[in-house]
Amino acid sequence: MDSKDYLHQLFGCQGRKAIVTGASSGLGAAMARVLASAGADLLVVARRQERLAALVAELAACEGSVHAHPADLADPAALVGIADRARSTLGGCDILVANAGTADRVRLEEMPEENFDAVVDLNLKVQWQLAKALFPLLRDSTAGRVVNIASIYGLGASVINGLGAYTISKHGLIGLTRSQAAEWAKHGITANAIAPGYFPTELTESALENDNMNTRLRAFTPQDRFGRPEELGPALLFLASPASSYVNGTVIPVDGGWTAW
Ligand SMILES: NC(=O)c1ccc[n+]([C@@H]2O[C@H](COP(=O)([O-])OP(=O)(O)OC[C@H]3O[C@@H](n4cnc5c(N)ncnc54)[C@H](OP(=O)(O)O)[C@@H]3O)[C@@H](O)[C@H]2O)c1
Repeated sequence: MDSKDYLHQLFGCQGRKAIVTGASSGLGAAMARVLASAGADLLVVARRQERLAALVAELAACEGSVHAHPADLADPAALVGIADRARSTLGGCDILVANAGTADRVRLEEMPEENFDAVVDLNLKVQWQLAKALFPLLRDSTAGRVVNIASIYGLGASVINGLGAYTISKHGLIGLTRSQAAEWAKHGITANAIAPGYFPTELTESALENDNMNTRLRAFTPQDRFGRPEELGPALLFLASPASSYVNGTVIPVDGGWTAW
């Protein structure tokens, strides 16, 4: 076998059906590009329809097909709608990239309950509910893969005050990942998480544009720079592809060494 075939067999996604949530910007859009380039058929999900349409147009030349599915994940009916659309348009679901997320920088002692709930609901509860809605499709796959996008703040506290609710939600998401791994292994599904460090996106814009915070955050990063969204690609492909068949319940930090201290 030549090296191209070997790599293709390990990491190729041709014929694999994937859902990427939060694909209208930032890391989700970058990960959709990676999976489409590797040949997967994709459903890209977020609220902003025009952003999804632009991504679909951008990826039109890829081998796999890319379909926009505008939806608000805060609406429980939308989660069932995603499963229905995956069934009708893709013919199933092999890979769920649970990436949509939010943050709200308010200190714990000041945070109103509704703000706390909004962060924890989207980053944790909705991720459980979406995977639950997709469970029958993932079980019917020959190699079901859940890839939850957690954070370095799922592994330790935030170095910026005010990210308590976010940190709590991402710790919970890692707990969800491990529970999915333990409960769903017998159904041929693996669940793993990626814990990104700091990447410039809409979510991190205000922190990274603040000179003091930018300097502080780089100081916590051994590689002394923030990530480029495409640098998540190799970890994603590994976890989404048949290559990771015996990797289950793990968290892969992609963080420039943040968690190495
Ligand atoms: N950037 C980083 O440094 C970093 C670090 C660690 C972890 N992460 C995680 O990576 C993930 C992506 O974040 P990002 O940095 O790429 O931020 P982003 O650019 O703000 O992306 C967030 C995505 O989530 C979608 N979303 C938010 N609420 C939604 C809802 N109710 N329904 C459907 N979609 C919704 C947004 O789309 P619409 O607004 O169009 O709905 C958007 O596509 C998040 O889970 C975040 O916690 C990011």
